[in-house]
Amino acid sequence: MVHCPDVEWALLRQITVIYDKITMSIQKIYQYPDPVLRKETERVATFDESLARLVEDMAETMYDAPGVGLAAPQIGQSIKLIVVDTHGDSEGERRFMPLVNPEIVAHEGTQFDEEGCLSVPDLTASVKRHKRITVAFQDLQGQTHELSTEDRFAVVLQHEIDHLNGILFIDHLSPLKRSLYKKKVKKWMVET
Ligand code: NI
Repeated sequence: MVHCPDVEWALLRQITVIYDKITMSIQKIYQYPDPVLRKETERVATFDESLARLVEDMAETMYDAPGVGLAAPQIGQSIKLIVVDTHGDSEGERRFMPLVNPEIVAHEGTQFDEEGCLSVPDLTASVKRHKRITVAFQDLQGQTHELSTEDRFAVVLQHEIDHLNGILFIDHLSPLKRSLYKKKVKKWMVET
């Protein structure tokens, strides 16, 4: 799934965390139209043990769902933090990468790919994204890195970074598709 030049693999290996189920706990995933998904997020300023624990809980929640990425607002935390699965990097082992304060600093080209979201149940749709991106972010120690990637992994990163700006993938759909989904959700909410 992960597709990036050789030089990036060293970075990925350095930053990825091996999934260790024992220490983690599954969090509630907030779903559209919960307002926490639209809230402004704050930059992470403290790189401590509780940040590392939150990242592990996010990974556990992501793999349990299952998903390939999760942003902190999806578990009700309005901070700039995402985790993404990087299993393509290894043989059978689950690995994920936490990105703290991630920001797209360069992009190129366009692509369309099918997306879904753990916070937007029962919908997948084709979304227009940048083909290639460079993301600046910090690791769990607060050290700054830049990662360039393309194709599917670039889609996942753009989707998760959108969450930090209160944007959901349905916001990228046509007004018609979006309103059909909103109607469906309203109907569910009346029924339950
Ligand atoms: Ni999502």
